[in-house]
Amino acid sequence: MIDIDVGRAFRKIGGTPLVHVPMLSPVWAPDIKVFAKLERHNPTGSVKDRIAEYLVNDAIAQRGDLLTTIVEASSGNTASAVAAASAQKGLGCVIFIPNKTSEEKKLITESYGAKVIRAEIDQDYMQLAKDYAESLGNQAVFLNQYDNLMNREAHFRETGPEIIQDMQGGVIDAFVSVASTGGTISGIGECLKNYDEQIRVVMADPIYSVLFDEFYRHRNPNYQPVMITPDGHLREGMRFRDTLIEGVGKKRVPNNINFDIIDQAEKYFGGKALQLVQKINQNTDLSIGASSGANALIAQRVAEQLASEGREEANIITIFADGSEKYKSKFENSEWLTDAMQYDH
Ligand SMILES: Cc1ncc(COP(=O)(O)O)c(C=O)c1O
Repeated sequence: MIDIDVGRAFRKIGGTPLVHVPMLSPVWAPDIKVFAKLERHNPTGSVKDRIAEYLVNDAIAQRGDLLTTIVEASSGNTASAVAAASAQKGLGCVIFIPNKTSEEKKLITESYGAKVIRAEIDQDYMQLAKDYAESLGNQAVFLNQYDNLMNREAHFRETGPEIIQDMQGGVIDAFVSVASTGGTISGIGECLKNYDEQIRVVMADPIYSVLFDEFYRHRNPNYQPVMITPDGHLREGMRFRDTLIEGVGKKRVPNNINFDIIDQAEKYFGGKALQLVQKINQNTDLSIGASSGANALIAQRVAEQLASEGREEANIITIFADGSEKYKSKFENSEWLTDAMQYDH
């Protein structure tokens, strides 16, 4: 009898297409190619289905039959992915969301069967989730995608090998990814480095995030941070903004980030990334979400860097983490979009 993991087969996690995006090549070097992995083809429409499965399975492995409830704190893709993975395993799911999260997103997560609890203004929703899980004892696990290393493990074991297979033996020269938990860049990055240590792993970081500075300080203790103070906080006047492009950047370095496998970090303005999202969505049938624009922008920059280093051919891989359907209320609001595309943050 063939041994099939029915849950996984049914939900079709992974096996997402890797497509060539010609418009991201420099016009003078079209053979420096950018390929994007289209993660919206996962069951709940994002890259986070991959980690949700690993985090929930790990919780089951820890607690066995005692486990009744999965608890997570997320306002974004992880919320619906964890809700779906919990339902698949017959477990209850409670998601804590920040006060500012839209009603639309709350409803999406609830539609996967989760109970969603909105934090009050000024309440730390991560802490609420942790305390709630602790109050339930061994019946519950707080997944904590930021610090639980099963996150990057999912990408190391699944997404990375898929990319190598997708490339069918073609050389991979660079891998570009934004970071929030850091699971995507660290897991895929480590897998690709094991495959070929010459592959350049590049982290894209928005202007109001500490990860760029923390990365260069990790490499060189004498590095003078641009955006943060010596103790790792944003400088006065630098407000961390996570509303323009969701799922990118961070105020602290999560456990899932492994700076040792990253070779280079690049800063970008969110407004520029959104302009590229518009351009890609208007000129292709890819229909990408906001963070994909950031990945596309930095992949384009790395392509230009490789061309200026004299390369005529190269393959750059990046991730399109979700699709435009997750951002309808923003992308279809021309006032928001016009304003956001002009923002230098
Ligand atoms: C749309 C989107 N893109 C990119 C990321 C970043 O991925 P990671 O958390 O693995 O760093 C996230 C994470 O929240 C996301 O939701």
